[in-house]
Amino acid sequence: MNGSTTNHPELAAQQAPASAEPDVRNADNPLVARLKARIASTGHVSVAEFMKAALGDQDGGYYTTRDPFGAAGDFTTAPEISQVFGELIGLWCVDTWRAMGSPRAFALIELGPGRGTLMSDALRALRQVPECRAAANIHLVETSPVLRELQQNTLRGENITWHSSFPDHGRTPVIFLANEFLDALPVEQYVKHGGNWCERVVAHDTAHDRFCFAIDRSKRLPLGAITRQLAQAEEGEIFEYAPTVRDFVSDMAHQVFLYGGAGLIVDYGYTRHAIGQTLQAVRRHRPIDPLESPGECDLTAHVDFQLVGETAQNAGTKIWGPVDQSVFLQRIGIIERTNILLKRANVSQAHDLRTAMTRLIAPAEMGALFKVMAMTDQRLSSLAGFEADS
Ligand SMILES: C[S@@+](CC[C@H](N)C(=O)[O-])C[C@H]1O[C@@H](n2cnc3c(N)ncnc32)[C@H](O)[C@@H]1O
Repeated sequence: MNGSTTNHPELAAQQAPASAEPDVRNADNPLVARLKARIASTGHVSVAEFMKAALGDQDGGYYTTRDPFGAAGDFTTAPEISQVFGELIGLWCVDTWRAMGSPRAFALIELGPGRGTLMSDALRALRQVPECRAAANIHLVETSPVLRELQQNTLRGENITWHSSFPDHGRTPVIFLANEFLDALPVEQYVKHGGNWCERVVAHDTAHDRFCFAIDRSKRLPLGAITRQLAQAEEGEIFEYAPTVRDFVSDMAHQVFLYGGAGLIVDYGYTRHAIGQTLQAVRRHRPIDPLESPGECDLTAHVDFQLVGETAQNAGTKIWGPVDQSVFLQRIGIIERTNILLKRANVSQAHDLRTAMTRLIAPAEMGALFKVMAMTDQRLSSLAGFEADS
């Protein structure tokens, strides 16, 4: 922490971590001007408000204005790496539907479906069991108009209902899917400062015309977020709290509890509440300073799976996992499915299939950082992918 260059008396400015990249902040992005104006009038915005605007602002937000996926974009997700990922999730849905007693109608709801690739691959797998495909009413929850259009193209011919907020799906049993969705939801940050947990906020360093971290001593961590782990923290350490993640998980779990069914969450994160900051920005597959280019880079935070699990349990559902993505995908058959595809593949396709499988399951790649957690209603006594954990 160093001397404040902001005009807010409660704030002590903190430098954003230095970036190896040049400053790529797009001065034309109306979001940057709006954030500066807002900070000029209120002194700061919370990290959660900054993240929400950077990703979802209606004219300048990152997801609102572009397709960020793939080699030509900023990052790649599991369904974009291999069709096998979505197909296996589809087979997991069939298995779960059977465990639910094969209801004649259920809602299959994906949160944050990106390009629609996972749903497209999953539906191909569902079609192998026509009664399951016929029972599934598909819902996609997406706030970005650009991505919604891509999803419409990818899923042309399917009967789909889109939602921009948590859906009312008609009181049937439900299966939720959320791959790399929770990490895109805003987190609040708190710093141990003078023995208290004060909110870490974003201010504007007018001297250097850049956003910087600061501390709002007047705003404290909500009592409900205090955990045992916080007692060991030292001065200056950071704790992330994600009320928006909690609210989405709570909404999912309430529907699973009320109407029956399951929810599957795949994301990078940690299994127990932890001290430390995980807010990160990625642009063209490289990390950059998270405050450098709001609206021009992906901004995420690791998911606290203890918060997810406790929230789902409090809403009355049963929790499965988390298990490492590597373990989950192997239990639901990634090796067997890849071997089947290899039999029909030419040399180059075989190379791609093997590379993709390694990316998804190798511990040094996505296999260990990504976790898989499920919630179900209390009646389900087994769930594919979680057998040894039940
Ligand atoms: C990292 S992408 C994951 C995409 C996809 N699940 C995949 O694995 O390729 C995050 C997705 O969540 C969407 N999103 C972010 N915040 C949202 C919100 N509050 N409500 C609905 N969708 C949101 C984004 O537009 C995007 O489609």
